[in-house]
Amino acid sequence: MIVFSGMRPSGQLHIGNYLGALKNWVELQKKHQCVFGVVDYHAITTPFNPKAIKKDSMALVLDYLAAGIDPKKSIIIVQSHIPEHTELAWILSTLAPLGELERMTQFKDKAKQNKENVNAGLFCYPVLMAADILLYKADLVPVGEDQAQHVELTRTLARKFNNKFGKTFPEPKAQLLKFGARIMSLTDPNQKMSKTGDESIALIDSPEKIREKIKKAVTDSGKEVKYDEKNKPAISNLLTIYHLFSDKAIADIEKKYQGKGYAEFKKDLTEVIIRGLKPFQERRKKLEKNPRLTEKILAEGQKKAQKIAQETIKEVKTKMGLI
Ligand code: TYM
Repeated sequence: MIVFSGMRPSGQLHIGNYLGALKNWVELQKKHQCVFGVVDYHAITTPFNPKAIKKDSMALVLDYLAAGIDPKKSIIIVQSHIPEHTELAWILSTLAPLGELERMTQFKDKAKQNKENVNAGLFCYPVLMAADILLYKADLVPVGEDQAQHVELTRTLARKFNNKFGKTFPEPKAQLLKFGARIMSLTDPNQKMSKTGDESIALIDSPEKIREKIKKAVTDSGKEVKYDEKNKPAISNLLTIYHLFSDKAIADIEKKYQGKGYAEFKKDLTEVIIRGLKPFQERRKKLEKNPRLTEKILAEGQKKAQKIAQETIKEVKTKMGLI
């Protein structure tokens, strides 16, 4: 199986990105050929800083490495370095129904947040994402729940292309984790944790910051530590985070805090997160000392990825009668 996934270089990664996607990538690379992208062309569809985006892209590569992505096993690329991504996106855009693009929840949310710049790139964002995936003929796309709709559109586009021009692409599936696919905000458990704002814990947050944020995290009424998404969304979210960082079963965690109340649970959760992030933070500090490393890894990744990408584009253009 071939796996593709990516992240936007826009701000610090948070534990939602890690628990919902990145942690899973590290597992998948043990069994499958994986391509992981730093999707800078997606990042420019919303306001960005031209002086910072390249640095942010390199920082994201370091995050991938520090999380455990092994460049000897997996291919790491920066999307804008491989022009075939946008070439395939243009071709796929001619198959993408406007009505379906209009229905994309992320487009609607982002258009609302950026009223002064609702650009065509933001609208076509899912088509570029489909191109990222199909360019490598990926079968599996490990993402958080918020990206599932885009992967569904990717399947539609693959099917349409295959029906019109002959079998070319697999219909890729999103892989969502049972726990972690939707980590919620610490200050509003009805909103997903997002890249900006105080409601999230960044992977590079200091122990002091993590302590402060968990202390401030909202809880539900009552005092029982119990997983109940409907009636206890905040505690269920904190339990999910505890579970994923400690590898302890939710039922065991519930048992441990039976009759003990939220304060003790939160205190221990803080330590579980700090301990869980420590290996990442230590590896990242070491990697930062070697700035040439990312350049080397990206050059190798680009070479391998472009070979696949060029073959796909050639096949696509031939099937369409363009060449
Ligand atoms: P992005 O950069 O917003 O997020 C990166 C990954 O993190 C997941 N994620 C979450 N998971 C659980 N809980 C959360 N609160 C949470 N927030 C974010 C996202 O689902 C994602 O998996 N469009 C994509 C990037 C992309 C891509 C692709 C992904 C571009 N091309 C091709 C897969 C395949 C995005 O903006 O992710």
